[in-house]
Order: sequence, then C-alpha cells, then structure tokens
Amino acid sequence: MSVPADTSLHGLWSKRTAFMFAAVGSAVGLGNIWKFPYMTGESGGGAFVLIYLLCVIFIGLPVMMAEITLGQRGRHSPVQTMRRLATEDGNSQGWQIIGWMGMLAGVMILSFYVVIAGWTVAYLIDSVRGVFDGFDAAAASAHWEALVGSPQRLILWHTVMTVLTAWVIMRGVNRGIEHATTILMPSLFALLLLLVGYAALYGEFLQGLRYLFVFDFSQINPDVTLKAMGQAFFSLSVGMGAIMVYGAYLPRKFSIPEAATVVVSADMMVALLMGVALFPIVFASGFEPSADPGLIFQALVLAFDQMPGGWLIGTLFFALTMIAAWTSAISLLEPIVSWMVDSRNMRRCSATALCAAIVWVAGLGTVFSFNIASGPEWQLYGKNFFHWMDYLASNIMLPVGGILISLYAGWMVRREVMQAQINIDHTTVFYGWLWLIRVVVPLSIFLVLLRGLGIL
Ligand code: PHE
Repeated sequence: MSVPADTSLHGLWSKRTAFMFAAVGSAVGLGNIWKFPYMTGESGGGAFVLIYLLCVIFIGLPVMMAEITLGQRGRHSPVQTMRRLATEDGNSQGWQIIGWMGMLAGVMILSFYVVIAGWTVAYLIDSVRGVFDGFDAAAASAHWEALVGSPQRLILWHTVMTVLTAWVIMRGVNRGIEHATTILMPSLFALLLLLVGYAALYGEFLQGLRYLFVFDFSQINPDVTLKAMGQAFFSLSVGMGAIMVYGAYLPRKFSIPEAATVVVSADMMVALLMGVALFPIVFASGFEPSADPGLIFQALVLAFDQMPGGWLIGTLFFALTMIAAWTSAISLLEPIVSWMVDSRNMRRCSATALCAAIVWVAGLGTVFSFNIASGPEWQLYGKNFFHWMDYLASNIMLPVGGILISLYAGWMVRREVMQAQINIDHTTVFYGWLWLIRVVVPLSIFLVLLRGLGIL
C-alpha cells in the first residue's frame, strides 16, 4: 500500500506529548510494577538492581534511540519498515527478521501479559467490593490460591484484558492509543506518588531502601546478569518493534534523543519508585521478598488491610497496575496488527480481532501453568509454560532483537543518513551514541547472552 512521503498509513501522533505518553505507557507496565520487584526478590536485591540500571542506561537507551529512528524513517510496521530500509540502504532483505522475531516475541509476551493483567482486574474488583477486609496472611494466601487455582476465573479475566486491549487498537493511533494513554498515564503517576508517600509514612521504609540499594556483589553471577539485562529490555519495551512502530508515527520535527531519554527516565523512575513503595510495605506486612509471582498480590492485600485508609489505597493501586498493564499490552499488539494492515491489506478491525484471538488461545497456556498444568510433569528443565514464554521472549528474543537493531543502525545505514534522521546536533553526542550502538551494545548483549546461557 503506498503512503505519501513522511507520514504513515496509520496516522501520526498529533502532539509531542502524545508520543511521550504512548511510549511511556508502553514501557511502564507489569514489568515495573509486578516483575521488577519479584525478579529483584528472586535475584537477591541490590546487585540485580545495579546491573539492571546499567543495562537500562548503556544498552536500553541507545537501542531505544536506534529503534525510534529506524521506525521513523520506515514509517510502517516493523517488518515493512525493515524491508523498506533494507531496499533503500542496499542491504539484504534478511534484516526483516527484526520485524518477524519481534512480532513473535510480542505475541509470546502478550500471551502471558494479558493473564497477569487479568489478575489485577480480579484484585481491583475484589478490592472495590471490600473482600479483603480483615484479611490475615493465611486468608491473603488462600485468596490468591483460589484465584490462580481456578482456570475459569483466570480465563474470564484474561478475556477481559484481551478485549480491552483489542478495543483500543481497533480504534487506531489517534482515536485509540493516543487518546487512551494521554488520559491514563498522568493518572498513573499521580497514584504512584501517593503510594510512595504512603509507604514512607506507614511502611518499613529504611529496610525497603536498604534491600533495593545495598549492593551485595557476591550475588552477581551470569544468570543474574542475564535476567537483569532481560528485565531492562522487557521493561523498556525495546528489542521487538513496539517502540519502532510508535516511532513510525512520530512526526519529523520532534527530537528523538530527547524523547528516548524522557521515556527511559520515566520507566526507570517508576520501577524504582515502585520498589521504594513496595518493599517497605512487604517488609511491614511480615512477608519475605521472594521469587513468587504472586507475592506482590498477597503481601499488598495484607498490608493495605492493616493500613489506615488501606481500602482506598489498595483499590487505587490495583487500578494503577491495571492501567499500566493495559497501555503496555496495547503496544505489544500494535506491531503485528500494523503489519497485517500494511502488507496483508486487512482492515484494522479484522486484523485486531484475528491477533486477539491468537493471543487469547496462547494465553491459555499461561492460565493452565498455574493450575492444571502446574505439576512437575508439565515442566521442562524446571520451567512451566509461562516461565518458558517469559524466559525465551524476554531474556533471549528481546536481547537478540537488540543486537540486530544496533547492528543495523550502527553498521548498515550510511552514517550521514543516520545522523540526519536521529537529529542529534551535537557531534560528540552523536559519536558517543554511534560508538555505543556499534560496539558496546552488541558486544555486551552477546557476552551476557553467551555467559547466561552457559555457552561461554
Ligand atoms: N515494557 C512493558 C512492561 O514493562 C512490557 C513490554 C515489553 C511492552 C515489550 C512492549 C514490548 O510491562
């Protein structure tokens, strides 16, 4: 389908803030609120946090700039963008693999993402109904077990999240994504600040801070490093084309480095603030931070119940998490839907419906991972279906996507073309970025991958 120069078939963001909100909406999600704390718990606290932050700044930020730039130049879905760029730059069409692998990673991530997001809806509704009143630790655990133990309930909530996500995507870039994220993101920040204030007043604040920021270097090993890098990619939404497709809707006049820096800072801030809010609450409620994906839900319900005004704060918290998950799920679906529209000439509505159906079916694997297929006979090398999806997509496919994106942006595009597109006036800054993206980023991802997978 042909599109006039420098716009996209799907439209462009109407304002700079629209891109910001959409991209921050994509980045800030369950990765920051649910996964960051439990991965930190699993990997021993401060050391994990330190590696995560280093990966965010020295790998995530440069890759995000590259992804936005390639997207803005290609103006299409990631597959079509890479096809166009490869043609214009005289490179192999094989580079489309970035788009293909990204779509696959997107569907894999989304398949568990909507299920976890479904938990937040279930907790939100129970919180509004006052179900958690007078809960003790045993009741909090039993409530949690009852939810994940019931495939029917999980399917109900994962269906709700899938439909909500599809609904926004069907409405398109301006009326859907832009509109939703512009309203949802500011509310999320306001709620988060409220929660941090709350933790400072009523939680075990210092113990929480110590847990997050005291680095115990003996905890660092190749596996923790791989997880921290995977978490950086997952949390920033980079490596799979979500940010690339949002970049495709970014008008030329906005500064890419500035946009990327704002998005990365906001994402990092939310993860840290979430940790700062959460660990004091977890400690105050007597739970231990651990690797359990359900810990957050159990500990918080208990904590909220014991706090003055906890009903309201709890309700707001689950609303916040659901909103964050929703705006991220949207960006996971957009690359594949835009590809179907771009190159299969499908209507946005039918493309979205088809993709949502695929995601819904794949989501059943995660649903069953917590109940009927949770036993050891359903595990492969100690991981169930949900863990495999997450591990393969976040820790392997996103970083590999990151290597390919950085190699393309760094080596396969003429330097002047890249410099003009990325729009960095300052030559030193541009060369700094180029050096990172050519050498530091691909090499460090490669080494972390090899060590983490036990190959090196
Ligand atoms: N960044 C999102 C989060 O932190 C998840 C995500 C990953 C979204 C990859 C888009 C692409 O929850």
